[in-house]
Amino acid sequence: MPLVTTTEMFEKAYKGGYAIGAFNVNNMEIVQGITEAAADLNAPLILQVSKGARAYANHTYLIKLVEAAVEETGLPIALHLDHGDSFELCKSCIDGGFTSVMIDASSKPFEDNIALTRQVVEYAHDHGVVVEAELGTLAGIEDEVNVKAEDSSYTRPEDVQEFVDRTGCDSLAIAIGTSHGAYKFKPGTKPQLRFDILEDVERRLPGFPIVLHGSSSVPQEFVKMINENGGNMPGAIGVPEDQLRKAASMAVCKINIDSDLRLAMTATIRQYFNEHPDHFDPRQYLKPARAAIKAMVAHKITDVLGCDGKA
Ligand code: G3H
Ligand code: 13P
Ligand code: ZN
Repeated sequence: MPLVTTTEMFEKAYKGGYAIGAFNVNNMEIVQGITEAAADLNAPLILQVSKGARAYANHTYLIKLVEAAVEETGLPIALHLDHGDSFELCKSCIDGGFTSVMIDASSKPFEDNIALTRQVVEYAHDHGVVVEAELGTLAGIEDEVNVKAEDSSYTRPEDVQEFVDRTGCDSLAIAIGTSHGAYKFKPGTKPQLRFDILEDVERRLPGFPIVLHGSSSVPQEFVKMINENGGNMPGAIGVPEDQLRKAASMAVCKINIDSDLRLAMTATIRQYFNEHPDHFDPRQYLKPARAAIKAMVAHKITDVLGCDGKA
């Protein structure tokens, strides 16, 4: 099976009350950990590449790694550009074999967001590629852009129908309280997503796939493991998994997770070196790191996304 778009995945996910995991990939071990978990659980998958990942690992290497995963697993896998910030970047990924792109013009004024998204949609649809757009601004860090909490803004439900109609986008990322990175909520506070906004969006766009970015849960056992092995991560708090599960049962069809994989990988490697200070063969420490990613993704598929057995 070749790489697929997200169209059929999202139709089934919307009807089935589950979501597809969109996991960020940067190297071979990450691709392997994610896809081995999905293969064991027969889960559809979105592998996403940020501008930073593409700069780090090179477009061709990433494409070939993902193609290898498709060949090895036989799963329906979409290859998606995460947070595309220009028409040129989206075009380059479309021309280079991606099946889905995100144009993130959410920090621009409404009319400018529409114009840029529309331009990407026209090119993408001409080439059989689907487009995710974003309305509302998430806090946190993505690539070199750091959006402060006070500059973030929830999606306004009254804007979504006009935005989707005028852009022709295939899915829409909204801001309901998630944010990028490991420091999402203040320590001691009780994280709460704005389900009232999600319900309102769902009512205005029946059947339309919604995307949640910034959906890592920041498992405390990994924060502890990092801190016990020489790290320093004070007050890292994520989105409660029961709230993500609820969102997945609603209109949310794609849930983006990156930080939790970074935590699992880093915690495992830190602990490995503490226990084996004399080791220096990368295979020795990358093997348990890959296994930790696999376990994390298996947990997300089964307990959060609900997409096991849906490939
Ligand atoms: O939302 C951003 C993703 O976590 C990707 O992060 O731009 O550092 O690769 P990155
Ligand atoms: P996290 O930082 O919560 O993992 O979010 C990742 C993301 O939204 C990628 O686009
Ligand atoms: Zn994101």
